[in-house]
Amino acid sequence: MKRKIKCVITAAGKGTRMKSDIPKVLHQVRGKAMLDHVVDAVKALGISDIAVIVGHKKEEFEYLKSQNIELVEQKELLGSGHAVMQTQKVCKGFDDVLVLCGDVPLITPDTLKSLLKTHLAKENKATVLSGKMENPCGYGRIIRDNNGAVKLIREQKDASAEEAAVCEINSGMYCFDVTELFKALKKVTPKNAQKEYYLTDVIEIMYKAKKNTGAFITNDISEIAGINNRMELSAADSAMSARIVEQLSAEGVTIYGADTVFINKDAKIGKDSIIYPYTFIDSKVVIGKNCKVGPFAHIRQGTVLKDRAEIGNFVEVKQSIIGSGTKAKHLSYIGNAEIGKKVNIGAGTITANYDGKNKHKTVIGDGAFIGSDSKLVAPVKIGKNAVTGAGCVVTKDVPANSVVVGVPAKKIR
Ligand code: UD1
Ligand code: CA
Repeated sequence: MKRKIKCVITAAGKGTRMKSDIPKVLHQVRGKAMLDHVVDAVKALGISDIAVIVGHKKEEFEYLKSQNIELVEQKELLGSGHAVMQTQKVCKGFDDVLVLCGDVPLITPDTLKSLLKTHLAKENKATVLSGKMENPCGYGRIIRDNNGAVKLIREQKDASAEEAAVCEINSGMYCFDVTELFKALKKVTPKNAQKEYYLTDVIEIMYKAKKNTGAFITNDISEIAGINNRMELSAADSAMSARIVEQLSAEGVTIYGADTVFINKDAKIGKDSIIYPYTFIDSKVVIGKNCKVGPFAHIRQGTVLKDRAEIGNFVEVKQSIIGSGTKAKHLSYIGNAEIGKKVNIGAGTITANYDGKNKHKTVIGDGAFIGSDSKLVAPVKIGKNAVTGAGCVVTKDVPANSVVVGVPAKKIR
């Protein structure tokens, strides 16, 4: 029988060491909140029943509701065990629960799959995702019995010298049998160095009750690193970038100066496209095949570049469709525009899309030639194969195949 799996993600903590007014898990790694990276990994496993435990600044997590993610409030922050206790109701009707941390943005679906697989294959009641670290400082240690079964997890602050010497650490991510988890949580007390209800205590409680407890040891400890401060955030951002560059490269995209390029994980880039240095590509961007982007290009949310489009230096494109073979190579702002095929956008072209209240659309037909420094005051349409002269200010629609010019400079001396 297929078991029903729930996922609970802890995100209630303050994240004091971030020194921030923003909740820790909402800080971004490559343009996406840490928590959202974790949610992505869970969804990639095909698990759609997700609850997030919120506390500190809970109103900032409301956006998750539109993705069908439940929010469970932990009113007082009394520890990780106390946090998970709040999810008893939402776990009802499920067989197992994956408990994850919102501050481990590098976790991959593959590793979570292995954790889940181990848990189910061994018929465990609790399975910890663990890893071996040369410097385990700060993490809970996995303490095993003589047969190698996981006996308990000891927090660093409560550890004896012998326990502290153990290098296998608790990632803070687990899979539990739902019934046994909540049974064990009832027995957890805050008798420890931090006076908190530790989630980790359920392992020892289950072990003593002769339930199967185990661990899946990941080889890639970089994936389970929890982010606690801005330096770690910065390192995770670089690691995520390397992963995105590797993925795109494997798919046939060339990225020059990868260290200088910022590509959101949700951007899609087609085969044989080339990304040049110092380029920023935001979320929900779709770049076709054989495109050239950069150097120094800014491709913002919701932009689509069709095949063979070319966007050059100091060009910002926002929420626009750039047709195939169209070029905007220098110093332009293109916002809320729909541009056809084989259009030439001259240097310095600006779509004046904002009147102070609303954004308006610019439509440019196939084959149009937009002269250098044209100002296109939206809403406006430029017909197919039309030409606008250098420095013109276009305030009215331009019919197909026509030529418009102005405002010319006048001789004053
Ligand atoms: C925890 C583990 C530790 C593990 C480490 C991995 C416990 C007792 N210890 O320690 O074994 O090695 O994670 O990073 O769990 N949280 C709440 N509400 C609370 C307290 C915590 O939601 O009242 C959440 C935090 O936001 C975080 C998670 O629980 O996502 C872990 O809690 P935290 O106290 O930060 O963990 P560590 O002390 O790092
Ligand atoms: Ca703690």
